[in-house]
Amino acid sequence: MPLSTQRPKSARHPLPEAGAGARDAAELPLHRLGESGLESEAAYELISSELLLDGQARLNLATFVTTWMPSTAATLMAETADKNMIDKDEYPQTAEIESRCVNILANLWHSPDHERATGCSTTGSSEAAMLAGLALKWRWRARMRQAGKPTDRPNMVMGANVQVCWEKFCRYWDVEPRLVPMEGDHFHLTPDRAVEHCDENTIGVVAILGSTFDGSYEPVKEIAAALDRLESDRGIDVPLHVDAASGGFVAPFIQPKLEWDFRIDRVQSINASGHKYGLVYPGVGWAVWRTKEALPSELIFDVNYLGGHMPTFALNFSRPGSEVVAQYFMFMSLGREGYRRVMQGCQDMAHQLSEGIAEIGPYRLISEGSELPVFAFALAPEVENYSVFDVSDRLRQRGWLVPAYTFPANREDLSVLRIVVRSGMHQEMADLLLEHLREQTEFLESLEAPLPGQVPEKRKAFAH
Ligand SMILES: Cc1ncc(COP(=O)(O)O)c(C=O)c1O
Repeated sequence: MPLSTQRPKSARHPLPEAGAGARDAAELPLHRLGESGLESEAAYELISSELLLDGQARLNLATFVTTWMPSTAATLMAETADKNMIDKDEYPQTAEIESRCVNILANLWHSPDHERATGCSTTGSSEAAMLAGLALKWRWRARMRQAGKPTDRPNMVMGANVQVCWEKFCRYWDVEPRLVPMEGDHFHLTPDRAVEHCDENTIGVVAILGSTFDGSYEPVKEIAAALDRLESDRGIDVPLHVDAASGGFVAPFIQPKLEWDFRIDRVQSINASGHKYGLVYPGVGWAVWRTKEALPSELIFDVNYLGGHMPTFALNFSRPGSEVVAQYFMFMSLGREGYRRVMQGCQDMAHQLSEGIAEIGPYRLISEGSELPVFAFALAPEVENYSVFDVSDRLRQRGWLVPAYTFPANREDLSVLRIVVRSGMHQEMADLLLEHLREQTEFLESLEAPLPGQVPEKRKAFAH
């Protein structure tokens, strides 16, 4: 649903000079269907010309989402775009590939059930979060009903640094979000604070493997241990979900000893985005449950009208099979060693960049890229004439998208810039980025008075 109410100035197509069929195109209305269509080549040329006005995806250091895949993957995706993921009877091999991917991830995340894992593909981590959250809510409700207790006030505990999908989950499904605020230099959920917010109405705690704000990992094992103590001291049994949107494809390869996954008994479900460090173009995500029992059967629908019986647990019904096929392609073509190489390369680059930025002078690193290959940096307190928002604006003039944003409650006073290093960032790009940042910083440092008109509404939390 396009939420923008902005209207373009012209009601006609803005690129009348483009190629064959252009004269007809000049008359095409933008916001209603034209009476007659164009030749497909002319339509192609017009649309691809218009899309040139978009940004350069590879210079976008804000997004976690994959912006480069090998051309063979793109070919395979084009060949499979017509396969409907839901139609498992018509496309049994695509369905088989989906379940192989679920098993591969369950194995990577040390599931006890990895040969017949319970999980599914989704359009991304947001949908996966909705499904995992619903499973937690259903299980909590069943527990409460069995104990003869009320079921009208469920809550979910998580750090204020959660991605917006968890706030959406709570609002859409009537769950009270208990957002644990940041404190001092703790920029994510800590075990004690998580437990303090739990009670018998807590459907689950969400721990994030790779905070969107600074790339840091929440201490999943320690949070689980604190919840174990809560259960033994007060009899309150709170399950743990790990939002491993990015870290689910990073930690298994470059931090294999870190215990954050199904090695921990309390972890009941995990989500990850195939389209982030899973290295696939958008939209694919994954949700995996610890065991079959962790996913209440009432949430699974059985559909038979496409022929055969198909269990389905998803918010969407039809969607293309190409992203799932592309995920399998990446698994096959890279293997463990390939993913390790890519993730290590991203992390080395993140370290190199964060060190380079710290050397420029006025910057203070909030994180270095040692967990996710993502880091955030702020300006030193003595800088008064410009802000991180100005640095972001200046970099944009050179084509780089480096977001500036404030941290959430209680650290709204802290404004940072963040860089997400993804596969496809090569040495020349990194050198150029540092050179441009150095050049723009020198300019800003040369200011003799504060820049006028710093726009306060720009300084909102960044939810991506
Ligand atoms: C920690 C975390 N969870 C969830 C999401 C949402 O992921 P998706 O874009 O795959 O829906 C993001 C996106 O950046 C994220 O960083």
